Amino acid sequence: MIVAHSRAELAAALADRPAPVALVPTMGALHQGHATLVEHARAQAATVVVSIFVNPLQFGPNEDLAKYPRTLPDDLALCERLGADVVWAPSVDDVYPGGDAQVTVHPGPLGDRLEGAVRPGHFAGVLTVVAKLFGLVRPQRALFGEKDYQQLTLIRRMVLDLELGVAVLGVPTVREPDGLALSSRNVYLSADERQAATALSRALFAGRDAAAHGALAVIDTATHELAREPGVAVDYLDLRGTDLGEIPHHGPARLLVAARVGTTRLIDNVAVQL
Ligand code: PAF
Repeated sequence: MIVAHSRAELAAALADRPAPVALVPTMGALHQGHATLVEHARAQAATVVVSIFVNPLQFGPNEDLAKYPRTLPDDLALCERLGADVVWAPSVDDVYPGGDAQVTVHPGPLGDRLEGAVRPGHFAGVLTVVAKLFGLVRPQRALFGEKDYQQLTLIRRMVLDLELGVAVLGVPTVREPDGLALSSRNVYLSADERQAATALSRALFAGRDAAAHGALAVIDTATHELAREPGVAVDYLDLRGTDLGEIPHHGPARLLVAARVGTTRLIDNVAVQL
């Protein structure tokens, strides 16, 4: 496995690598959810590249950029074990030479809803860095977790609308045995908060299981379940189509939740069959 720190080292590491190249973009602090992405990539690409970059552009002024967990030695060891070919861990200057990008990707109306309503500018930051990663690595495939479902939806849409020619693959969320979705931010939770946080997946599963009774029942059931846990402050609970548009009368839909547990903001979602 080659570890590249600059874009020059990345280019050298990628020279003559066999296609298809699969990119797994991450912000590090890797857990089993990321490992699953790398395993999926390994199973279907000749060359697997993992990027590790905490992208300042997608953090708001009051968010956790400075304290975001950074565990590079452990991340590299995991990537090596999983058989990644190249890990690219660039500096901010290397990704944004000359300072902030002047031209950025506008996420469109979906970028202002759900997570975008609570985190203004977040998805412009995500899409801009993902476009840059695609430009620098030139992968044929890129893998993202379904846990960040709105991010995945917007990346798919960017690839379509900007004709980027990358196959975007969504990989199902990995959960703890008690249902909590794996997230690098779970390390912020105290023991009590960790317990309270299980209300998110409980609510989503209860909502999903009420789908035979219609969309209202899904939302009511999930809302009721969340209300039983006083340690959880809900930002939104929303049922949408799979493209995050209008709720369909019948067929596949997505139930999404965002909530604060203590000072930690968590998101989760599940597929629902209406
Ligand atoms: O999901 C993440 O870790 C990040 O948003 C991503 C896609 C690596 C872009 O910085």
